[in-house]
Amino acid sequence: MTYRPSFAEIDLGAIRENYRLSCQLAPNSQHLAVVKANAYGHDAIEVARILKGHAPALAVAFIDEALQLREAGIDSPILVLEGCFSANELILASQHNLWLMFHSVEQVIMLESTSLPTSITAWLKVDTGMHRLGIDAAQAPSVLQRLLDTQKLSQQPVLASHMANAEVLDHPLNRQQIEQVQQLGKQTGCALSLANSAALMQLPASRFDWNRPGIMLYGCSPLEKASQQIGLKPAMRVVSSIMAIRELHPGEAVGYGGHWVASQPSRIATVAIGYGDGYPRSTHGKSDVFLHGQRAKVVGSVSMDMIGVDISHIPQARIGDQVEIWGSHVRVNELAAQVNTISYELLTRISQRLPRRFIQP
Ligand SMILES: Cc1ncc(COP(=O)(O)O)c(C=O)c1O
Repeated sequence: MTYRPSFAEIDLGAIRENYRLSCQLAPNSQHLAVVKANAYGHDAIEVARILKGHAPALAVAFIDEALQLREAGIDSPILVLEGCFSANELILASQHNLWLMFHSVEQVIMLESTSLPTSITAWLKVDTGMHRLGIDAAQAPSVLQRLLDTQKLSQQPVLASHMANAEVLDHPLNRQQIEQVQQLGKQTGCALSLANSAALMQLPASRFDWNRPGIMLYGCSPLEKASQQIGLKPAMRVVSSIMAIRELHPGEAVGYGGHWVASQPSRIATVAIGYGDGYPRSTHGKSDVFLHGQRAKVVGSVSMDMIGVDISHIPQARIGDQVEIWGSHVRVNELAAQVNTISYELLTRISQRLPRRFIQP
């Protein structure tokens, strides 16, 4: 039970449909559903449940995220993208059927020196230009051999890499990364994995045996045009309501610091959502919300629990009226651009205190 009029509405059917659409882009590949960071704020347990029987495996960042899913009864294979930080996690991974990414020689040494109750599924991450995680491409065959020599693997590892600029269609690094992965595939005979959402959507050559779509499952890829062509549907709508209305005279200010000052008689709504819920604090006076079929500007400093909205042009607005913070009218990508960030950040920052309401398919 929640009494708050603010919530994030999650359309689970849209996520399942977006997943299906992502698979259609590469019907000969398999697709891991990336559900890290609480499924980009959409609730990893609910998303994992809705994808059961559809996605052959899920992906999270670290073991704790995977164990939360196991505790909730999710039994799909789960790839842990950052692999293990300690030997103890190797044992947990083997006990809980978690697939582990090995991105460093240190992790391979950990495997060599740890006895496991059962064999594990390993992926080997290669650095092809992101320069974040991964074995140097030149060392990949020898590190792969070390992994195999442990005799602790249930199957040949998948070779994975991650693209640094997939959103930029003609970025020269894209081709280099794709070619390096192809080359490694020829050298080792391993199954391959490279594409995230952007690559899957617009770089066909990056689609290998396993793709790893994340943001597109939630319907808000930064590639707006491609998203619309594919038919992706935003899965999250954040809604709040008007809790107070003030009539301001010219010269009167709104909120902490008085950063917004009325230049004319103005009607300001106080809406029940703030940075404590994940609404960005630095809006620079640029962000919009949507109510009564119209857009309205967020004005003044964003408070922890409230924002001010200029509703001077919406005289019919009343206390209790619903306000879309983002959703189908104010797209999260648009808000992200207005506040100088990316949709990923806005989605994953939605705080736990904002109730989720799930629409089941
Ligand atoms: C290794 C890896 N694969 C796949 C993804 C999914 O990326 P996207 O959400 O852009 O599809 C991520 C996300 O950051 C990642 O780190």
